[in-house]
Amino acid sequence: MKFSIKIYNLETQCTDCLIVGIFESRRLSFIAEKLDIISNGYIRSIVNYSAIQWKIGQSLLLHNIPNVNSKSILLVGCGKTGETNIKKYKMIINKVIHALKDAGITEAIYCLIEVPVHVKEYNAYWKIRHIIETTHDELYRFQNLKTKKETSSPLLRKIALNLSTRDEVTIGTYAIQHSLAVVAGVKIAKDLGNMPPNICNSIYLNLQAHKLAEIYSDTITIDSIRQKEMQELGMNAYLAVNRSSKNEPIMSVIKYQGNKDTYLRPIILIGKGVTFDSGGISLKPATNMDEMKYDMCGAASVCGIMKTVAELNLPLNIIGIMAGCENMPGSHAYCPGEVINTMSGQTIEILNTDAEGRLILCDTLTYVERFKPDIVIDIATLTGSCVVALGHHYSGLLSNYKPLVKELMIAAEQSGDHIWRLPITDEYQTQLDSNIADMTNIGGRYAGTITAACFLERFTRKYHWAHLDIAGTAWKSKKNKGATGRPVPLLSQFLINRSKLKKT
Ligand code: BES
Ligand code: MN
Ligand code: ZN
Repeated sequence: MKFSIKIYNLETQCTDCLIVGIFESRRLSFIAEKLDIISNGYIRSIVNYSAIQWKIGQSLLLHNIPNVNSKSILLVGCGKTGETNIKKYKMIINKVIHALKDAGITEAIYCLIEVPVHVKEYNAYWKIRHIIETTHDELYRFQNLKTKKETSSPLLRKIALNLSTRDEVTIGTYAIQHSLAVVAGVKIAKDLGNMPPNICNSIYLNLQAHKLAEIYSDTITIDSIRQKEMQELGMNAYLAVNRSSKNEPIMSVIKYQGNKDTYLRPIILIGKGVTFDSGGISLKPATNMDEMKYDMCGAASVCGIMKTVAELNLPLNIIGIMAGCENMPGSHAYCPGEVINTMSGQTIEILNTDAEGRLILCDTLTYVERFKPDIVIDIATLTGSCVVALGHHYSGLLSNYKPLVKELMIAAEQSGDHIWRLPITDEYQTQLDSNIADMTNIGGRYAGTITAACFLERFTRKYHWAHLDIAGTAWKSKKNKGATGRPVPLLSQFLINRSKLKKT
């Protein structure tokens, strides 16, 4: 898919399709108005005659428009003027993609930057970003493992965005560059997430890290912490989870140095990379167990974010860690009742082997202390409770460092990759009390997302930290089964903001 921006002369321009907005109560957008004049009132007459109300999602394709060189015009409903927000704008874009796909149109010019979105600072930059990112998100298909590739109608190949000022062209160039980097990161996260567990194990994750280092050899290097080194480090909680797997656990450390300043403390991203979570001895029920191949989506998102960051050459130092392992039952498996000594020295009484994510993360959180991090963010498909609490729209955010929460909230708002904060106050910590060890690995029936974060919090006291629970947002089920690539857009935006890149 090719995207371009330009100030077009729409009268003389010849393309397959021009896309213009119409508002409820039959109000034409500025460009629709212009095209109406050129076509001697053709557009107005169609809009007046048709019964369409121009709600978001409604559209009409016109052909043979008098005095217009382009082959067709797609009128798209934009709802009530003055009511368009970011979500509605994305819905309009979605509708356009499907209408173009259905009509078999391969080239189009969008005249939709002029549709007003009533959000502070929401200018052409953000509209272009959302157009490009939404389009790619919508057109993504995972075809790597199909012997016959889907060959639907001729694919949309070129999308041009019509702008009105020179300034818009300048910021638009940045918008395209940023979007394409985010899109590339999202694609990596989706592809990796969708890979089946017989192919995508810890070694496979490690291979992806090495592929990044090969492409971005100037900025990325890889450290691979394998089983033997984990043993030497005393990462016994991490190792316990993998104990019955035939695959070796590997922690892939992706070091990105975009800033020469050696005093600059790194930002650390840790992704849960359980390539299959059977539950272990506390075996999961059979229904939908296949979806536990997605239990490595945190790690996949880290790989994706590192791609975005390297592509944009952000002036930051970032260490992304994919904590790869597999949770299997078997005669070597760790079992309920075991007490494990973590790398931090704290002991854990295992009460449920299905609460494995926090075990691999706790040792990884201790491991990263050596980097003297500025901040640490972990990303994990950690709790089924998070899906109960927030469903599939918002990822859970838990952090005890307010400035970081604020930054993440801003990035979520901008990217449309939503998060909702849950508390991690001390009163919840008592749910982890154990008579046998320093803590248990589960906190009982209530507030499962919070007690999981409380568990992690005990290993993060040496730095500023945030935890993203993406159990409900990392993939979709049933008809739309597939990884979403979240939270790559959120964290890419967070890092772009931190780099203070020029946008406007
Ligand atoms: N990977 C799962 C969490 C999960 C479950 C994500 C379903 C998405 C959908 C995690 O390892 C897990 O099994 N958590 C347990 C914790 C419990 C034993 C305290 C859960 O949520 O049931
Ligand atoms: Mn589990
Ligand atoms: Zn899990």
